Amino acid sequence: MNHDFQEGLNFAKELDKLDKLHYLRERFHLNKGEIYMDGNSLGLSSVDAEESLLAAVQDWRREAIKIWGVDEGRYFNFSKIIALKLKDLIKADPNEIIVMGSITSNLHQALTTFYKPTKERYKIIIDELNFPTDIYAVKSIIELKGQNAEDTLVKVKSRDGRTILEEDIIALMKEDVSLILLPSVLYRSAQLLDMELITKEAHKLGILIGWDLAHSIGVIPHNFKKIAPDFAVWCSYKYLNAGPGATAGMYINKRHFDKSAGLKGWFGNKDETQFLMSHNFDQDQDANGWLLGTHNIFSMAPLDGVLNIFNEVGIEQVRSKSLHITAYLMYLIDTKLSKYGFSIGNPREDHRRGGHISLEHDEAYRISLALRDSNVIPDYREPNVLRLAPVALYVSYEEVYLLVETLEKIVLDRVYEKYSLDRVTVL
Ligand SMILES: Cc1ncc(COP(=O)(O)O)c(C=O)c1O
Repeated sequence: MNHDFQEGLNFAKELDKLDKLHYLRERFHLNKGEIYMDGNSLGLSSVDAEESLLAAVQDWRREAIKIWGVDEGRYFNFSKIIALKLKDLIKADPNEIIVMGSITSNLHQALTTFYKPTKERYKIIIDELNFPTDIYAVKSIIELKGQNAEDTLVKVKSRDGRTILEEDIIALMKEDVSLILLPSVLYRSAQLLDMELITKEAHKLGILIGWDLAHSIGVIPHNFKKIAPDFAVWCSYKYLNAGPGATAGMYINKRHFDKSAGLKGWFGNKDETQFLMSHNFDQDQDANGWLLGTHNIFSMAPLDGVLNIFNEVGIEQVRSKSLHITAYLMYLIDTKLSKYGFSIGNPREDHRRGGHISLEHDEAYRISLALRDSNVIPDYREPNVLRLAPVALYVSYEEVYLLVETLEKIVLDRVYEKYSLDRVTVL
């Protein structure tokens, strides 16, 4: 990372003029006067997502039950249609991708499929900084198999409380490990793990590995043809901007297509025999065999629409701006904020960081409340982290500059002191 950034608002405005993605701001619904830095939690609504959702509502109104046959079965095949638009984000074959459920439910689907413990090989590697739902899903499968969590779970320890070292993960890979589940990007510190190296090392020992792409899908390009993990899951409401609770996604590498889906449902049946209503499950021969029930059209339609934006600009360009605008934010933090007790908790190297900046401060909680009252929407995570995501598709350099100015004012004037330290749930 070597950028010649300069101080001052005019420089930010110059950067906006040079930004090839700046025009996309008009496609997103930004509140006037508000700076939105929380796209790592929930992405913004867009014209594209909204139009697609409204079209689906109108199709339902007009067609009723015939909606499933609209445009040669577009909605009946909605997962396959959206997979065609997702494939370039992770460089996978479209039939390795399905669109359904949530990260949590898709993890259950993956774990019931892939976790087949034996006496010799039964351990599961996770990391101690992972998001709770991933751990809950892993503990569920351990319980379901009648195993003991203490004996089965191998937790990679963090040396600094923020990041996990690849070498520490690899050191835990042994012949008794059955499966590894890790996040591509850690949700608090934004650390991007070396997925290719870790996957390669796991496979050398015959260990299956799955990735949670919650904080990388839509902001970091993946090459699953090269990395070839066993499975991956992701949500669509963060950097993909498909709306609160939008339908999630799942990748199953084609070498597993002959496996029996852990959880079975009639949408996982082959199309040709689905409506024969047989009680014998006739599993589809690709990732579609892992589908469960009827597609939730209104949670998928916004995703279908917003993916047009990604296909229009390409994920590489999104990553390139994301790296640049987050580097600019780090530059401003270093030059303007470090003297006020702020420090950067995410790795600084481009190949080790995701789409948000993890800004630490002892008073981060109260500062996050003060930011909200100053029309800046941040994200706060215990114990002391402001997660700030200048999302490439809709955040401007000028807004990043104004964010830092607002932060400076809040600490300089001690504005945060008027807020209570008692935690109210900040979503
Ligand atoms: C890493 C990670 N996994 C999972 C989730 C949430 O899972 P779900 O989409 O099932 O609510 C989040 C939510 O922020 C997350 O950050």
